[in-house]
Amino acid sequence: MDSKSPIGVFDSGLGGISVLSAIHTLLPGENLIYFGDSQYNPYGTKTKEEITQRCLAICDELIRRGAKMIVVACNTATSACVNQLRDTYDVDIIGMEPALKVACDRPQPQRVAVWATDFTLKEEKFAALMHRFDEKHEIHKVACPQLVRIVEEDDLDNDVRAQAAMNAYLAQAPDVDSIVLGCTHFVFFKKKLAQRLQDSIELIDGNEGTARHVKALLEQRGLLNRGEAGTIAWMNTLPEKIGLSKRLFNRMEDSIE
Ligand code: SIN
Repeated sequence: MDSKSPIGVFDSGLGGISVLSAIHTLLPGENLIYFGDSQYNPYGTKTKEEITQRCLAICDELIRRGAKMIVVACNTATSACVNQLRDTYDVDIIGMEPALKVACDRPQPQRVAVWATDFTLKEEKFAALMHRFDEKHEIHKVACPQLVRIVEEDDLDNDVRAQAAMNAYLAQAPDVDSIVLGCTHFVFFKKKLAQRLQDSIELIDGNEGTARHVKALLEQRGLLNRGEAGTIAWMNTLPEKIGLSKRLFNRMEDSIE
């Protein structure tokens, strides 16, 4: 394994492409493999055992392809089994966590909505995270399964459907200072959401923080690829989703700004 070895990035489907994009922007020299598990999407309705089995199969494949690091670009998968993955593989495994710490890092008590999958919100890992902040801050949990479906079904341009879904979720916790996007699929709605919200409501996701963490760890391990033209290899358990994956990657900047 050396600096030219790839970083493996995976998700239950296509949401992790938003993380892939943040990593590629910060580290353009890195060779990346994106593995989407669209055949088994969504993970948010599966059991912990089912999700863990899928993640182990994907990580085995990424390791077989020489990954020097694996990014679990899926909050649900991270909640289910990131510790087990860390115990199983020798490479660094980076997980995602709803960026509640960022939302609550203010002197005044905050009202925060955390949008995620039902699975993430019900897991012990999130309960422990929430416990660190809910004495001082008001935290609302909002499960948003429709937003995952819209991305997976290539329906992001269906504005009527997107607006109806966003309305329903905004109505569950309307009066907040910030919304934490605790699922990598939701980052594709960032621009649409920002256009709907008052300027005073902040939208927070963990993608750039994750990319910075990847960079810091690679530097620490002497594995950072300082080249300029890294490659991206695309894999999916539904190969017909690879065209959509590339389109989502190419429209990422339009989705967030
Ligand atoms: C899902 O597959 O249900 C969404 C996964 C995520 O949390 O990113």
